[in-house]
This record gives sequence, C-alpha cells and structure tokens, in this order.
Amino acid sequence: MTIAPSPIRIMARAKINLALHVTGVRDDGYHLLDSLVTFADIGDELQFLSGDGFELSITGPEGNSLASEDDNLITKAAHLLSDGDAASFGASIELQKYLPVASGIGGGSADAAATLIGLNQLWGLSKTREELSDIGLQLGADVPMCLAGYSLRARGIGETLSPVKLPMFSIVLVNPRVEVSTPKVFSQLHRKDNLALDEFPDADDQASWINWLAAQRNDLQAPACDVAPQVNACLETLRETDALFVRMSGSGATCFGIYANDAAALRGKSYIRDTQAHWWVKSGRTVG
Ligand code: C5P
Repeated sequence: MTIAPSPIRIMARAKINLALHVTGVRDDGYHLLDSLVTFADIGDELQFLSGDGFELSITGPEGNSLASEDDNLITKAAHLLSDGDAASFGASIELQKYLPVASGIGGGSADAAATLIGLNQLWGLSKTREELSDIGLQLGADVPMCLAGYSLRARGIGETLSPVKLPMFSIVLVNPRVEVSTPKVFSQLHRKDNLALDEFPDADDQASWINWLAAQRNDLQAPACDVAPQVNACLETLRETDALFVRMSGSGATCFGIYANDAAALRGKSYIRDTQAHWWVKSGRTVG
C-alpha cells in the first residue's frame, strides 16, 4: 500500500501597514518608504502537492474575482522559482482566497510569498530566505516583507527589512468593496519627501505604541480617499466603534481599527456588519 504524501499547507497572512511614510522617489519612479508592518491571523490558505504538470485551483469566498490565468502572482512565482519550467517540476496548488484582491493588505504578495516557500520545500530546492526574497522582489515590493512574516520596519521600496518587537493588538479589518489602483494612489501624492518614522517607543505596552502610532501617518491615505471616497466612509465607520486607533493600510482601500481587547474588536465588527452589510469585515489579532 502506498501512502499519499501529505500536502504542504501555508497561511498567507494579511499584511497591515500600521504606519507608512513616503520619503522619496527613485529614478525608476518607485517610491521610497518607511513603514511599520505587522501581520494578522487572517489570510488566504494555500496547499501544495506534487503532481504531473502545473495546476492551480482557486476557491474560497474571494476567489471569484481572481482567475487562474498567466498573470496570477502564484503562477508567476512558480515560474520564476523553476526558471520557467514549473510544469516539469510538477505541482498542484490549491488557493483558498479569503482576502479581497487589490486591497492594501498584500493578499497577492502574501500568496506569492507562500508559493515561494511552499514550492521551495515541495521541490527540495533548498533556496535560502535571501534568495527567495530576491526572487520575490521581482514580483512586487511587498513580497519580501510577506516572506519575512514577522513585525518589521520596511525601508527602501519595501525590501530593506528590520524586525520590530510589537505588542499583540486586537484588530478589525474593513474593506468597503472597492478596488484601488496602487500606481494611481501614488500618482495622486502631493509630497513625496516626507519625514521618516519617529524613533520607536522604548516600551512594549499597547498604550505606548498606540500613542506613537497616532503621531505617525499613512501618507497614501489622503490620496486614496481622493481616488475612492469609500475609504473615508470606511475610516468614519471604524471611528464610530470603540477603536483606540484607526488608519488605512498600504494604498487602500482596507482600513483597520485597533481595540483594547478581542471582545471590543468583536463588538466593532458586529457594528460595522450591521451598518454596512456588503463590506468585507474581519476581526482577529496581530501576529509576529
Ligand atoms: O510592487 P508592486 O507591484 O506592489 O507595486 C505596484 C505599483 O505601485 C508599482 O508599479 C508602482 O507604480 C507603485 N509603487 C511605488 N513605490 C513602491 C511600491 C509600489 O511607486 N515602493
């Protein structure tokens, strides 16, 4: 009797930019950032199995808007990792999509990062995290941070990473069901030479970090509200809950609230669900 090998399962966690300052522009048009990033216990689920040829199936509540076509970041990651020969290596990948696409919480980047980790293991390639990160950067500026998966400060265009010790936060993520184009939001920025993040607090309690966060910004928030006024509605609705702190993540449109505890976050989620039934709303905790 042969026993079928068990699949490799990886969660592609939502990325949250707790603060995001735009500090400059490179010659190639990419923006220099200084961002404090953490991750959530909310994400997509990927499963990797050996197989003949290369196959990707997409299911899950957010899967419909993502066709399994050639420009999918998972397929691109598999091709880059195998020098364009994913079919010979062989893999059957299942993506259960729970994160809304093009939403500022790195769903596509996290899927690409999970694919690089999963296939590196499945195919026995023994590539280091640094090598995977170099491949990931070709797929998107957020892929290296998603590969890291721990709370971090991201500089450069998002690829220069240093770990940061953060307390756990109870959170609510809200997407007002509008896809926002990242290049469009960057193009609406008035100032591109903003100050870097302030020095981090010398404490690991939630209150100190929330005070610190309140003095930082997401420089993409105002331009995203110009591009999609629903982002502002999302922030306003979060402010009607008991959130201690509210901000947009990445280039939007997903916004987040930080709460005193899980019960307060659950109440916040219920309130938003009751007032905006068609929005995507999740509660959880930060991890890493
Ligand atoms: O890297 P990613 O594919 O996510 O970026 C999408 C677009 O966002 C880029 O093509 C670029 O226009 C813009 N971007 C930027 N500066 C960054 C990251 C992204 O201008 N640091």
